[in-house]
Amino acid sequence: MTYRKKLIEVALPLEKIKLASAREKEPFIRNHPRAMHIWWAPRPLAACRAVLFAAMVDDPDSDPQFRKSDGTVDVERAGMRRAELFNIIEELVKWENSNNEKVLNQARAEIAASIASAKVYDSKQWSRHQTICGDSVWNFISRLAKPASVNQFLIAHAPPVLDPFCGGGSIPLEAQRLGLRAFGSDLNPVPVLITKALIEIPPKFAGKAPVNPESNMRLEDGWTGAQGLAEDVRYYGQWMRTPLPLVVLVLSQTSQPCKGRAAARCQRIPRAAPVSLARGRQCRNSAVSTGPSRLTRCGWDVTLHASPKRLSST
Ligand SMILES: C[S@@+](CC[C@H](N)C(=O)[O-])C[C@H]1O[C@@H](n2cnc3c(N)ncnc32)[C@H](O)[C@@H]1O
Repeated sequence: MTYRKKLIEVALPLEKIKLASAREKEPFIRNHPRAMHIWWAPRPLAACRAVLFAAMVDDPDSDPQFRKSDGTVDVERAGMRRAELFNIIEELVKWENSNNEKVLNQARAEIAASIASAKVYDSKQWSRHQTICGDSVWNFISRLAKPASVNQFLIAHAPPVLDPFCGGGSIPLEAQRLGLRAFGSDLNPVPVLITKALIEIPPKFAGKAPVNPESNMRLEDGWTGAQGLAEDVRYYGQWMRTPLPLVVLVLSQTSQPCKGRAAARCQRIPRAAPVSLARGRQCRNSAVSTGPSRLTRCGWDVTLHASPKRLSST
């Protein structure tokens, strides 16, 4: 069988990849996975994305579409095609394009084209006119297939990506972004958990509406990708944080410093450990006039471990 060189074996726009990778390290970059958890030596996502793409698409010198009738490479046309692939990479690595469906769809279509072309011209497994994943093979080769068909095609026919030392999951994450099946493993359970949160859990909720009662109402354009899940994480994260400042309020039980101890248990999360509120001198707080009754209304079950009578002044 003919060996097709991949783009990564021939050339890469290294300067642009380097700049995009450096930009990703800037502190004001938002929505980066490192905001969730940092793991050792994370690879820049831009570099992972570029390398994966270039490892999946054929170099034009190996593509029969860029051969002359005598079988030799049409250097001029192949060079122009390589420049087009470089342009795609340069767009792909930009941080602001991380979720740009137009750019991602173009990259996915290129990967599908390389796979379909090899199946037709090299292994001769497929004919150009047969239908695969809802589109004709020729449409995949000529990058005319519908994005939904390309996604289906990549899941079914692209080689899966495995990173056996996945750490914080940069490589599986980017493989998934390019529409590929991605697998990761690691010796350490912490990066395994991080990678699960990054690439295994979100797809299970892809396109689903959030379950919280407020966001669910706002459904103008529908929920795409992990938007619904992200909305729930934001909503319930806020929900869990809300009662915490109220813990201070119980200290108004006494205007005197006390030796007693107070504890509050959150009724919303029955299995959560009680929060120990104060001890000894730390209990000095007379500024807040609201007592435990307000905490109770907010879902905190307040227990004073020392009766007010036993609270003594120091
Ligand atoms: C540098 S980190 C990988 C970072 C990752 N490429 C990223 O971009 O987030 C290397 C990982 O290899 C893992 N590791 C080391 N030895 C291993 C082994 N024998 N089997 C599986 N994982 C291993 C470590 O736990 C560590 O998480």
